[in-house]
Amino acid sequence: MRHRIVGTLVLALLLKGMAGLAAEEGQFDLSPRSLALLEEAVRKTGDPKSGREIYSDTRDAQCANCHRLQGTGAHVGPDLGHVAEKLSIREIAEALIAPSRKLTEGYETYTVVRTDGKILSGLKISDTADALHLRDQLGKDHFISRSKISRLDKSPVSLMPSRLVSRLSRQDLVNLVSFLKSPGEQKLLDGRLLRAWIAGPFGRVIKKPEPLEKDPDPSKVAASTTGKLFQWKLINTRASGLFQPGSPFAIPKSSFYLLGWIKSDRKRKAALRIDHSSGIRILLNSSTVYTSREAGMDKRLEVDLQDGWNTILCRVNNPAGSSTCGFRLESSAGLRLCADRQD
Ligand code: HEC
Repeated sequence: MRHRIVGTLVLALLLKGMAGLAAEEGQFDLSPRSLALLEEAVRKTGDPKSGREIYSDTRDAQCANCHRLQGTGAHVGPDLGHVAEKLSIREIAEALIAPSRKLTEGYETYTVVRTDGKILSGLKISDTADALHLRDQLGKDHFISRSKISRLDKSPVSLMPSRLVSRLSRQDLVNLVSFLKSPGEQKLLDGRLLRAWIAGPFGRVIKKPEPLEKDPDPSKVAASTTGKLFQWKLINTRASGLFQPGSPFAIPKSSFYLLGWIKSDRKRKAALRIDHSSGIRILLNSSTVYTSREAGMDKRLEVDLQDGWNTILCRVNNPAGSSTCGFRLESSAGLRLCADRQD
């Protein structure tokens, strides 16, 4: 008898605990209670450093695939530089949980039906008498001639997918919001390249140039001196901010190329900071500007940039198949380091 009572009590306590957990564990939503809990959690347990890692993880949360912050990232969504000051914790949470509820001005989605029946959605970059310039979710630009448009509508749906945030755990969302409220933590992103194009694997001798060095272009197939063909692929940094290519590039005694661009507001000097776990050769606008046969940490490289777009191509030695490297601009004022050549 005594056992039964104890057993029931334990069960009751367990169930109560679980019910409590369910209320605290589910996804945050837009109800006032849920937003109040989120706000409290951001103030009490928010970890902006971990939030920065989530923000920078361009494979999962993908924020930097669309947004810019501290000169880093892409040109699809708005620059998030002003968010920490302009938006409250609740407003940020709302923008993340339900992007379509209130679209940021100037970033509305447009849907075009072409005369051939094809449907395209994206942000309207420009609209002239001849053509419409749309930028889609992947950052790809489409120029559609006016005569080929049968319908053009403003869509109520944000180009920002809500599923990105719904996949995050409760604490990850709290940390991400804390990061968006922390200008100090955001500074650490400053000028980092989070995404690049990769081609390979090539031979191990990195000083031997491959034909693609003359005109590296991700829209073209790259051929090696031995006649092998390579397609450029986009690669993202890990949460550490470093590139560590997996298959098919993770082959011992090989090498690979990484490609990105620096946009400069004028002809000027700039400094790059580079981390590499093995030998590397760096080309700026097709001439070699840095060669190292061994690992380097936070190496400073001063470069002469031309006005507009500058191509930065790196040949990375991969002796053990696990090489890592990372790039960042020492100061991103007037500059942008990125994987897409978009204005
Ligand atoms: C596919 C592109 C895309 C991705 C990925 C994306 N966003 Fe957005 N985001 C947008 C666009 C477009 C807008 C503007 C329309 C709107 O308000 O929803 C926006 C708006 C926002 C806003 C509101 C800004 C303001 O000034 O009102 C915030 C905050 C934001 N995004 C944060 C994030 C975070 C954090 C992530 C990663 C979890 C993310 N976004 C991922 C495209 C994207």
